[in-house]
Amino acid sequence: MKGNTVKLHDKEFRVSIPASVIDNSVSAMAERINADYEGKKPLFLIVLNGAFMFASDLIKKIDAECEITFVKLSSYSGTNSTHVVRELIGLDESLEDRDVIIVEDIIDTGITMENTIQKLKHLKARDVKIATLLFKPNAFQKDYTIDYIGMEIPNDFIVGYGLDYDGLGRNLPDIYKII
Ligand code: IMP
Ligand code: MG
Repeated sequence: MKGNTVKLHDKEFRVSIPASVIDNSVSAMAERINADYEGKKPLFLIVLNGAFMFASDLIKKIDAECEITFVKLSSYSGTNSTHVVRELIGLDESLEDRDVIIVEDIIDTGITMENTIQKLKHLKARDVKIATLLFKPNAFQKDYTIDYIGMEIPNDFIVGYGLDYDGLGRNLPDIYKII
C-alpha cells in the first residue's frame, strides 16, 4: 500500500470513504434503529461475507435487546454482478413472529436482496426490514423499500470495510474505489 491507494490482484483502488465517515454513518443508522426498536427485540440477520465488518460496528451501537444470526447468499464474482443467485444457507433460527432486520454491506442492482427477501417470505417473520451500509441508486433495478441506508454512492466498484474484489480487500478499514 502506498498513500491512499492499494493494488488488489490486477486493479488499483483509491480511498473514497474514510473510516471516520463510515463510522458517522453507522452511528446515525444505529440511532434510528435504536429509536424504532425501543421495547422490541430485533433479530439481525447478517448477510455474509461482505456485511461482517459493518454488522459488527453497527450492533455494538445498538441499545435494544437483540439477537444476531448469519446467513450466506452470494452472487458476486469479479467486478460485475453475475446475477446468479445461490441458495440461502446457514439459517438455523426461527423467524416466526420476529422483527427481523436484514443487514447487508451494499445494494447494487438489488437482485441479491430481493432473492433473500423471497427466501424469507414463508418463514412467518412479523416484520422484515432492510439495513444496508451502501446503496447504488443508479444501479438499483427493483422497487422495494430499503428501510435503512448508510450512504448512497455512485456506480463505481468499491472495496474495503468488508467488501472484496475476488477475495481481497475485506480487511481495509476505509472504503476504496477502483481507479
Ligand atoms: P446486487 O445483487 O447487484 O444488489 O449485488 C449485491 C451484492 O454484490 C453485494 O452484497 C455485494 O456482495 C456485491 N457487490 C455489489 N457491488 C459491489 C462493489 O462495488 N464492490 C464489492 N462487492 C459488490
Ligand atoms: Mg454482500
